[in-house]
Amino acid sequence: MNPSLSIYDNLGGAGTIRRLVEAFYPKVQENPLLGPLFPEDITPVLEKQFMFLSQFFGGPSLYSDAHGHPMMRARHLPFPVTPERAEAWLGCMRAALEEVGVEEQLRDAVLQRLSGPAFHFVNTTQE
Ligand code: HEM
Repeated sequence: MNPSLSIYDNLGGAGTIRRLVEAFYPKVQENPLLGPLFPEDITPVLEKQFMFLSQFFGGPSLYSDAHGHPMMRARHLPFPVTPERAEAWLGCMRAALEEVGVEEQLRDAVLQRLSGPAFHFVNTTQE
C-alpha cells in the first residue's frame, strides 16, 4: 500500500472496485441479517455501490454525477440498520476484499474507512 495515493488508486481503480462489488453482493444476499433487506434484482444496487465506492475512495465522482448529493445516511433511513447489521455488512466486505485478493494492509485501510459510515448509518436497535 502506498499511503500517498488514494484508496481508489491503491486498489487499482475501476476494475478492482467492480470485482469487489461483484464479490460483495452475493455475500450480502446470502447473509440472514442483510439479505431480506435487499431486492431480488441486485443489479441496480450493485451499480450504485460501484459508483459510490469509486468516489468515496477518491476516484471519479460517478455517484454524485448520476444521483446528486449522496446523503447516504438519509438513503438508509427506510431500512432498519442495527449495529448487528453494520457488523454483518463489514464482514461481507472483509470477505469480498479477501476474495478479490486485496493485500492485508490495504484491506484493513478500506475496512477502517467504511466502518465510520457503517456505524453512522445505524438508525435502530430493533430488527
Ligand atoms: C451498515 C449496514 C448497511 C446496511 C444494512 C445497508 C443496507 C442497504 C439497503 C437495504 C439499501 C437499499 C437497497 C435498495 O435499493 O432497495 C442500501 C443502499 C445503498 N447502500 Fe447500504 N447498507 C449498509 C451500509 C452501507 C455502507 C457502509 C455504504 C457505503 C459507505 C453503503 C452504501 C450504499 C449505497 C451506495 C446504496 C445505494 C443508494 C441509492 O439508492 O442510491 N451502505 N443499503
